[in-house]
Amino acid sequence: MKHFMITVAFILFATITVNSMDKKIIRISTERTDLVLQVAENGRLYQSYLGERLLNDADLDELDWSIHPASDASVSRRGWEVYSGSGNEDFFEPAVAITHNDGNPSTWLYYVSSSSHPVDGGVQTDIVLRDDKYPVNVTLHYVAYVKENVIKTWSEISHQEKKPVTLSAYASTMLYFSRPSYYLTEFSSDWAKEAQMSTQQLLFGKKVIDTKLGSRAAMHTHPFFIVGLEQPACERQGEVLMGTLGWTGNFRFTFEVDNVGNLRIIPGINPTASEYTLKRGEVFVTPEFIFTLSSEGTGKGSRDLQEWARKYQLKDGNGSRLTLLNNWENTGFDFNQEILTELMKEAKDLGVDMFLLDDGWFGNKYPRKDDKAGLGDWEVTHDKLPGGIHALTDAAREAGVKFGLWIEPEMVNPKSELFEKHPDWAIHYPNRDVYYYRNQLVLDLSNPVVQDYVYGVVDNLLKENPDIAYFKWDCNSPITNIYSPYLKSEQGRLYIDHVRGVYNVLKRVKENYPEVPMMLCSGGGARCDYEALKYFTEFWCSDNTDPVERIYIQWGFSHFFPAKAMCAHVTSWNKNASIKFRTDVASMCKLGFDLGLKELTADELLYCQTAVANWKRLSPVILDGTQYRLVSPYESNHMAVNYVSTDSKKAVLFAYDIHPRFQEKLMPVKLQGIDPYKHYKVEEINLMPNGKSVLAGNGKVFSGDYLMKVGLHVFGFNSMQSHVIELTSVE
Ligand code: DGJ
Repeated sequence: MKHFMITVAFILFATITVNSMDKKIIRISTERTDLVLQVAENGRLYQSYLGERLLNDADLDELDWSIHPASDASVSRRGWEVYSGSGNEDFFEPAVAITHNDGNPSTWLYYVSSSSHPVDGGVQTDIVLRDDKYPVNVTLHYVAYVKENVIKTWSEISHQEKKPVTLSAYASTMLYFSRPSYYLTEFSSDWAKEAQMSTQQLLFGKKVIDTKLGSRAAMHTHPFFIVGLEQPACERQGEVLMGTLGWTGNFRFTFEVDNVGNLRIIPGINPTASEYTLKRGEVFVTPEFIFTLSSEGTGKGSRDLQEWARKYQLKDGNGSRLTLLNNWENTGFDFNQEILTELMKEAKDLGVDMFLLDDGWFGNKYPRKDDKAGLGDWEVTHDKLPGGIHALTDAAREAGVKFGLWIEPEMVNPKSELFEKHPDWAIHYPNRDVYYYRNQLVLDLSNPVVQDYVYGVVDNLLKENPDIAYFKWDCNSPITNIYSPYLKSEQGRLYIDHVRGVYNVLKRVKENYPEVPMMLCSGGGARCDYEALKYFTEFWCSDNTDPVERIYIQWGFSHFFPAKAMCAHVTSWNKNASIKFRTDVASMCKLGFDLGLKELTADELLYCQTAVANWKRLSPVILDGTQYRLVSPYESNHMAVNYVSTDSKKAVLFAYDIHPRFQEKLMPVKLQGIDPYKHYKVEEINLMPNGKSVLAGNGKVFSGDYLMKVGLHVFGFNSMQSHVIELTSVE
């Protein structure tokens, strides 16, 4: 059946290569978007259209590659070259720049051929370009996911010159727009301050968002953005491009508005400090750039990306997720076998699926009793945990929960046996003072021997302890002291080959242990991209678990990721917020806890147990349903979001009062995405024991139409209050 659907999609949306009026046209289509490319008289490939899908095939002939040139057309027929080379008549930022064997830095690419074939969810188009003076090939790849309206694109560069060439630009793709105005929404970040949204108009010149951190690469900005076309991005209307790069290392997004007010967007690996020597025959594969063009605002764009991710990109995107109790915020490094055994019992009592042991369980010569030592020595600390991991998995089994384990296998502390044995495995200069970030160094994963070692960390743990059911894979340091003892004179490859080395390891883990879910963590949310998420089932959004801050952080990430990929834990950050508020905020993502249950009152514990049970019951709606962002915390003192099950029989509404103003005007919240013709029973859940709902509509039945047009009064005047409302179709 799946195969049949793929074939149908291919027939309907296959790239059509038309030869009419001497035009060679390549069309990359989803149900709602067309990206049209055209070979010009000069033999080069240009973008002639990117916008809402065109209804009439014949209209493609009307598109002209040269309608967007410089103001004086007699001077220039510049056009929008799809993968713009360097040293040509285009005076703006190129996609690719290569220094050839003879020192010539120019690359002009000419169309050679194109083909398309069906793939899961859509159609893949491959276009071959070639330089006419140098044996350099570029292949552009596009996968159009028809129904989800998502396009994934990447490029491959190779050559047959005698000696290596040097790549100094190697974008994943290039996209162009001609609109009266452009507004960029970026997602800046820092430790405990992830996914902060801000918007600015793009005017003449370049705006660059990039990172040079190497491994904890997205610490200061995340690999995704939104461009509002003609107006700042809005949730429910207006045209927006939403794009994200699948790369766990340095990335760069360039937005350049040229002399005639056209915008080009160039996403890719950040080439800074990465002049790449490409050997003859070697293929340089760029990361995937994934985008959607929504004409119904960011809400629709996010829903399409979330759906696409669950179906085609995220590891185990259709699977369930484990609720958990973590010990990091509770015990830090200070635990032993007895304390952990108690926590496992608490996990069971709480009703979660798993206990997750965090940092501090390993190292003997240099035990990991704080963050100064031990990284690299992945052997249990015998003094601290005499029974080893076995005793812990046994205790978990006895308690009736699964057991998960924290690792940070890409790192080494200089105070470790690993560093003593293999100092040359760590990235650092041979001749300078060493700069440490969190007292550690990054292992050199450009070196295949080090890749084997890092894979071995996971492999050994799982071979010796097959009951480990989950890993939290952390990465707390950027690459510091940027020199690879392995790469020697080819240091320009380090940032890139290191990330590829990480992927080599992750591929092996996934191939050999496909059933073990893993959380991607990087000192909070400094790793959150769709290449890593091929190997991880979820990511840790932030160490900041203050529920007020989390509302903003989760709101930001939700623009690109489904709730099931986003881990949210209830902790003791901001104790001024009730346990209910903290739990209700975490419940809109993948729910976990990281606090000692002993610090809760009996009522609070009962509340948490009920909330866990409710979340598990409703997880098909929250994790696999469709998400609608209703009220923005950036535009009000509140926040609301609802999820609707795929059959629209169930919905869950989460509503939060953050810091309302005195006597401010409170508006009802209008739901979205439910069936207007169905009737829904409205029930407030997640109430404190003996608590009564104060919501006017609680217990009543309303039509979906009423709920979406009139709405429910769910907001109040008190700070940090929340309501979780379950809606059930009564037909
Ligand atoms: C950073 C992570 O974000 C935390 O959750 C915790 O795992 C610590 N590292 C442990 O060192």
